[in-house]
Amino acid sequence: MALQTRMLGEGFAVEILDVDLAGIDDATLAEVRDQWMAHKVAILRDQTLSDDALVDFTERMGPLFVHVRDQFRSLERPEIMYISNVEEDGRPLGALGNGELHWHSDQTYTRRPVFGTMMYAIKVPEAGGDTWFGDLAAAYDAMPTAMRATVDGRKACYSIEKKSLKRRYETPQHQKDQAPDQWHPLVRTHPYLDRKALYLSPGHMTGIDALSFEDSEAEIARLQDWAAQDRFVYKPRWRKNDVVIWDNSSVMHRRDSFPPEQRRFMKRTGFHLPEERGVPF
Ligand code: SIN
Repeated sequence: MALQTRMLGEGFAVEILDVDLAGIDDATLAEVRDQWMAHKVAILRDQTLSDDALVDFTERMGPLFVHVRDQFRSLERPEIMYISNVEEDGRPLGALGNGELHWHSDQTYTRRPVFGTMMYAIKVPEAGGDTWFGDLAAAYDAMPTAMRATVDGRKACYSIEKKSLKRRYETPQHQKDQAPDQWHPLVRTHPYLDRKALYLSPGHMTGIDALSFEDSEAEIARLQDWAAQDRFVYKPRWRKNDVVIWDNSSVMHRRDSFPPEQRRFMKRTGFHLPEERGVPF
């Protein structure tokens, strides 16, 4: 049976209606996966997922990803990372606080970057905290030939800690050791759909080819300005119990800040590509 869907953005981002992820059968899951890949971002509202059900669904989408930042992982289900500004006994319960997040794609600084990220909204602030998505395949497609020539065949370096950005917290040495800087192509081909996209993560990128730091930063800023044009961007408004799934090979995302006195609590999981699809994707 074909899923009921509603397009949300200009050519990408889809809402999938009337699907309960907790009890999803294999055929429906395959349709959700197809819709998600075709539209790069999928939103499913009104979900009720235990931690086990969240991890189970994630694993059925692909091999489970476990985040290197172990201080923000669930103790019972380390595949779940908390994204939150909520504190308990003076300590942050989750990562990323309430500040603005720069445009990025998830875990680009790893050898095998996470393919799909899922975020399940448990508490949503009344104002702010919106996550914006930028369609990097459309941004690449729309590039004039001369601009494409400046990205095709190039590589960029991605780091867990971009030194030129203000840090939220120090990265412990054992996490830096697990995530040494990585070079990936600046243009990547989707592992299933053969579609090309910019691989842009300005919040992690520290260099392009042999360009100087200043020239790389200028180039990264130029590419971000291009890819973050309104025509490539969609910003959903979070609702409690939303599950949003995004394809890190095809979109970048950023987040608005929100008032510190408001509580935002998200459970985030992710899944890899199967090893046989190759690295990089
Ligand atoms: C993330 O970058 O994975 C988190 C985004 C958000 O908090 O909206």
